[in-house]
Formats: sequence, structure tokens, C-alpha cells
Amino acid sequence: MVPQISEVDSNRRTHPYGVKASLRHASVRKCTMLENIGKTLEKDLLTKEDVLTLLSAGEETEPAIYRKAAETKARFVGKKVYFRGIIEYSNCCTKNCMYCGIRAGNRNHTRYEMTDEEVLRAARYAWENGFASIVIQSGERQDEEFISKIERLIRHIQQMVRNELHVTLSLGEQTLETYRRWLEAGAHRYLLRIEVSNPELYRKLHPRDGNHAYQSRLDALKALRKARYQVGTGVMIGLPFQTISDLADDLVFFRDMDVDMVGMGPYLEHKDTPLYRYRKELLSPRERFLLSLRMVAVLRIMMKDINIAATTAMQTLDPMGREKALRVGANVIMPNLTPTKYRRDYLLYEDKPCLDEAAEACKMCLEARIAMAGDTVAYGEWGDSRHFENRQS
Ligand code: 5AD
Ligand code: SF4
Ligand code: FES
Repeated sequence: MVPQISEVDSNRRTHPYGVKASLRHASVRKCTMLENIGKTLEKDLLTKEDVLTLLSAGEETEPAIYRKAAETKARFVGKKVYFRGIIEYSNCCTKNCMYCGIRAGNRNHTRYEMTDEEVLRAARYAWENGFASIVIQSGERQDEEFISKIERLIRHIQQMVRNELHVTLSLGEQTLETYRRWLEAGAHRYLLRIEVSNPELYRKLHPRDGNHAYQSRLDALKALRKARYQVGTGVMIGLPFQTISDLADDLVFFRDMDVDMVGMGPYLEHKDTPLYRYRKELLSPRERFLLSLRMVAVLRIMMKDINIAATTAMQTLDPMGREKALRVGANVIMPNLTPTKYRRDYLLYEDKPCLDEAAEACKMCLEARIAMAGDTVAYGEWGDSRHFENRQS
């Protein structure tokens, strides 16, 4: 007997914390389940129901799913890991997402913006250490001062490194025109998480102030594609009100949007946010971690040639979280290049690792972790998403 979709869906209607409920309801006979999972894993195209089965099947199915994901990774993207040095440029944000520690409404952070010199120094470190790629991330601002500053910074970086670095931006929703300006200045890729693909859930997790519309986020993702970026998106896993069916929809959403990169990780609570009041309703940290790992594995099986990040949030819930994600399909890691003096003010969630470790310490630590996962760091390679390359040809 397989877990009944109708049962999961009825959970969803009757239980606001459906992930928890549906996981606990998945009591099925082990061997029939394993056979069934084996058949599902052989399919070329997984349906939403297949994805739901893979996400909700019992722990005994983990080895089969993880093995298939590891084989798929080795075959389609290789056992290489690409470094993207992340520069957390500024924690100033005009938005108020209910889950995020640097939301505008949180007065407990000192707001900062890195100087041009600090950004250039971090980019130089990446370049000199063969990272080949950086990510510039910050809270969301749409004013002209911010837009032109970023434009100028990208140009300076590319001048300094003779266009040898690939630049990824993670600066929120912008207009098509802004995306084009930044691309023209020398950016290549853009990360914009949809956060949750269910519009109803999106509304619950964001204030209704006209500044957080699901449709605008979707339009921004489409604009990025139109501007010809390599496009990355992602979601949080284990949020209050989120069901296992929502998570299956998230994976299908990535496939339907034909994205080139995905970064997803567990939702982690932060005491200065409105969502904190639901902390007792969440899956346990271990359950949330295992669910995140399974999401990575199933995504690799579904989207064989995309880049998938082993996110820092995974490491918050399990000391070996990033290595484990690499073992089940992830192939990108983002070492933190933000000057340590700013790190404590870029706390999207609590217990973020590496707050005191300088770039060099994280680099060495990550190299060791990657070796433990049986992979090698692809120094000096841009590591464009194979999916992006394949859809250009
Ligand atoms: N837990 C996990 N991830 C979070 N993010 C924001 N707040 C949290 C949280 N509490 C993620 C969002 C955002 C990215 C920059 O950080 O997905 O897109
Ligand atoms: Fe701002 Fe992003 Fe945090 Fe939302 S998730 S409050 S847009 S930094
Ligand atoms: Fe930063 Fe290990 S990754 S210290």
C-alpha cells in the first residue's frame, strides 16, 4: 500500500501543519513500499503524485532514493562542487517577510552597507583563490541610488578581474529594465527564491501591504528569464502551514519554470519575527533536516542537469548538513566572503554558522567537507548550469 494522496490532501484541509501530520500518518508496509519506490525511481517523468510518494515514504526508503540521486548527479553533472563566494552586501531591506530576521520591522539589527572597497576586496579574494564566481546578496531596495550603485560595483569588479569572475545577483524583485542594466554591467546569473509556490501560503507568510504580491514575484522570475539570465529560485522547507503536498508542488514548479539553479533549505525560526509564535508547531529540527535532504535528492532525480546548492541553513540543523546534501545531489557551495564584522547583522535566521570564521577558515573547512563527501572543488571553473548550456544549444 502506498501513502494515500487523498489522505495527505485531507490532512491538508483539516490540519494547518500538514507536513507534520502527513509524515506521521505514513504507516505503510515496508517491503511493498520499497518495491513501489523502486518502480517510481525508474520513471522518466515523475508526476506530482510520484513526487509526493517519494517525499512522504518512510525512512526505510531513504537509501534507495539517495542512491538514485547520487548516481544521477555523478552521471549528469559530475562529482564536482562549484564555489560561489557570497558577499552579503547590505542588510537594509524595504520588505517585511514574516519569517526573516532582517525584515524592515526588526529594529534589533544595526543596518549596514559594505563600502565599495570592501566589496572589491571580497571579490578579489574570490578571484585570487580560484572561486571563479561570486554572489552579491542583500535585502531588497528598488530606488535608483541602489540600482546605480550595484551597476557601478559590477562594472568595477569586472574591470578588476578582467571579466574572469561570473557574477550572480540575489537582490530581490526588480523591473526588467533594472535586470537588463545589471546584466549589461557584467552580471550573469540571478537568484530569486519563490519562497513557496502555493499563492495562498505565500499570502500567509507575507504582509498584505501591497509590497509582497505572489504575482509580482512570479513576474520577476519571468523577467529574469526574458533578460536572459541563468535563473535560480528556491523555497524554504518546514514552514508553518506548509504541507507535504505544497513541497511536492514546489518541486514540480521548479521543473515547470525550467530553472537553471535551485537553492532551498529548512525554514529556521528567528525570535524577532511574527512567525516565531508558531515555533511549537514545527517539525523537529531533525525531521526538517531530513525532509530538506529528501527534497534535494528528489529534485536531482527530477532535474538532472541543474545546479543545486548545499545551503548554509542545512548546516544549521546538522553539523554535517552540507556534506550530506552534496552526497544526495547538490553540487554548489557558497562560502561566505562577508567581512566578519557584518556577519552578525545578516542573520536571516538564528544559529547561522560561520559567524566568526574569516573567508580563509571557511574555505579550508569546506574543502575538507567536500572531500568527505567524495567530491572535488572545481577551482577556476565557472560552473555554469549544464541545464542553461543545454537550453541555449
Ligand atoms: N529561515 C530560512 N531561510 C530564510 N530566508 C529568510 N528567512 C529565513 C528563515 N527564517 C531565506 C529566504 C530568502 C533567502 C535570502 O533567505 O528564502 O530568499
Ligand atoms: Fe527582505 Fe529578503 Fe528578508 Fe524578505 S527575505 S525581509 S525581502 S531580506
Ligand atoms: Fe565556515 Fe566551516 S564552513 S567554518
